[in-house]
Parts: sequence; structure tokens; C-alpha cells
Amino acid sequence: MEKDIVPVCLGRLRADSPLVLAPMAGYTDSPFRRIARAHGAGFTVTELVSVEGIVRDNKKTKKLLSFTDQERPIGIQIFGNNPEVMEAAARMIETIGPDFIDINMGCCSQKICSGGMGAALLQEPRHLGKIAEKIVRAVDVPVSAKIRIGWDFSSLNYREVIRALEDAGVDFITVHGRTRSQMFSGKSDWNIILEIAELSHIPVIGNGDITSYDEALLRLKESGCAAVMIGRGAVGNPWIFSPAMPDLESLVIQIIDHLDSMIGHYGAYGIILMRKHLVKYIHGFPYAAQFRTRLLQAKDRDEIRGLLEELSGAEKNIV
Ligand SMILES: Cc1cc2nc3c(=O)[nH]c(=O)nc-3n(C[C@H](O)[C@H](O)[C@H](O)COP(=O)(O)O)c2cc1C
Repeated sequence: MEKDIVPVCLGRLRADSPLVLAPMAGYTDSPFRRIARAHGAGFTVTELVSVEGIVRDNKKTKKLLSFTDQERPIGIQIFGNNPEVMEAAARMIETIGPDFIDINMGCCSQKICSGGMGAALLQEPRHLGKIAEKIVRAVDVPVSAKIRIGWDFSSLNYREVIRALEDAGVDFITVHGRTRSQMFSGKSDWNIILEIAELSHIPVIGNGDITSYDEALLRLKESGCAAVMIGRGAVGNPWIFSPAMPDLESLVIQIIDHLDSMIGHYGAYGIILMRKHLVKYIHGFPYAAQFRTRLLQAKDRDEIRGLLEELSGAEKNIV
């Protein structure tokens, strides 16, 4: 085990690495979580799941909630606004056996925020605290919250939000260092994350813009956070959770393994869903542009495999 990577306690949750996978809708499904964990991610999280969908036993929601033991420790992330419905949903998902429940208080999408959910909760710290408290009281598993630093720069109320979450009894807090109004523009503010890590009485996970393993370790050290969370930087590069760098052969093996998991999980539709991962896996290779379109048009596993072997051969001939 790499000396920089030591187990970490996040409240009642223990993770064997402080580098953890971020929840990402459309990306961090069961196959990808398994891969991230196999590459050393300290924990994984589902994408945000609607509490309304949970209490109504919606079929699509059920699929989002499915996971395997290889993804553990795993958190299920829920979003909503009504404290009673959120409490009921938390009780229901506890029976599936996640290692923790995470509350989404940072999603910036218009659809979610206009319903008072996600990052919109930051505008009402008392209501946000009430939701967290109800969930903490309702379940035995650890509970965490994922926030942004505020709604916009004129309302940076993270101090108040952190207090409310601490008082509610959550185990740890993840902070994406942007405001809601920034969406994904600008930069994650690691100075504010550092300030939050200092002022918080519970463990803080810092998040935003980490693109390499070395950068993750540096952010961890400099911010004083208990852990750091990696999202986009892990797509196409699950090796980011460890010092290992893939060679071409292991890259191809990884992609095929991922593709097989996608087909296993979604059936033939998994090939379509795999496309966005494929593009990221091959990004940066000199011949990537040439193979990109062909890979995106490939109809089945064998065709993709053949193309990857061809790409691999082309890349090898460069040196
Ligand atoms: C495509 C996409 C989907 C996301 N979905 C979620 C989500 O379901 N829940 C959540 O809390 N954050 C979500 N996020 C935000 C990430 O968890 C993370 O906070 C953000 O991307 C910043 O980290 P990064 O720079 O390492 O990607 C999403 C981000 C992206 C790019």
C-alpha cells in the first residue's frame, strides 16, 4: 500500500483510502463504481436518487439503487425537499444495506433547484438542518451531506450551513468549492474548503477540479481535509486513485472489462451508454481522433474490441 494512502475515519464510516469517488449522474453507476473501487477509491456513491421515486417504488429508481458488494463502502445519495418524505425514503433505503446515506445539497441543475432541492437547500439553512436531523434520527447508518459553498458570491453562507449540519449530527460533509450560480464554471475554491476544514468539528471532504493522483495528494495535504473526492478526473482514468499508470495493454483490458460490465448491467443498451466512457478512455492518445468516430459507431463488443486493438497497434508504432 502506498504510504500516502492510509485508512480514514469519516465519523462512523471507515474508508481504506482518503481518495473517494464523487457521485455523478449518468456515470457513477454500478459498473463504474466497481472499477473505481478496484482501483483504490476509498468509497463510492450512487448518483442522486429522488426520494419521491423511492417512496413510490419507481422502477427506474430501483435500478439506480442497485449495487454489489464490490462497490463497498457505498453511499446512496438522495435528493428532495420535504423532510417527512426524505425521512421515509431514508428508512426505506436503509433496508437495502448501504454503508452510508448522503444528502444532496449541491446539485445545480435548474430542474432540481426550482423544486427547492439540491443546492437550493443552501438558501434555507434551518430547513436544511431539519432535513439532515430527521434523516440522522431515522437511520442507524452514517449520514453525510454534499454541499457547495453557497448559492452565489453574495450569499456565501457556508459557516451557517456547516453549523446546521453539525448540529443535525451528520457524520461528515463533502464540499464542492463552487457556488450554485457558478455551475461548473470558474474554479473550485480550495481556500474556502481549507477554511471549512478548519472551522468544522466533523470530517470534511474537499472536492473540485482534481485531475491527477499527485494533485489529489497535494490537495489533501494542503487543505487539511480528511479526504478528497474526485469526479470528472476519474472518468476514463480510474487509475487516478492510485500511483499506478496504465500501459496500452492494461488500458484495453480495462475498457473491455468495463464494456462487459455495462452489457451485464444494462444489456445491449450498455454499449450505447459506454460511449461517453470510451471517448474519455482514449482521450489524449495521438490516434484518438481517428478512432473516435469509428468507436462511437461500433455496434457490438467484438467490433469495439477490434478497434481498440487496432488503436493500440497504431499507438505502439509511434515509438
Ligand atoms: C456529469 C456530472 C454529474 C454529476 N452528478 C452529481 C450527482 O448526482 N450528485 C452530486 O452530488 N454531484 C454530482 N455532480 C458533481 C460532482 O459530484 C462534483 O461535485 C463536481 O463534478 C466537482 O468535482 P470534479 O471537479 O472532481 O468533477 C455531477 C457532476 C458531473 C460532471
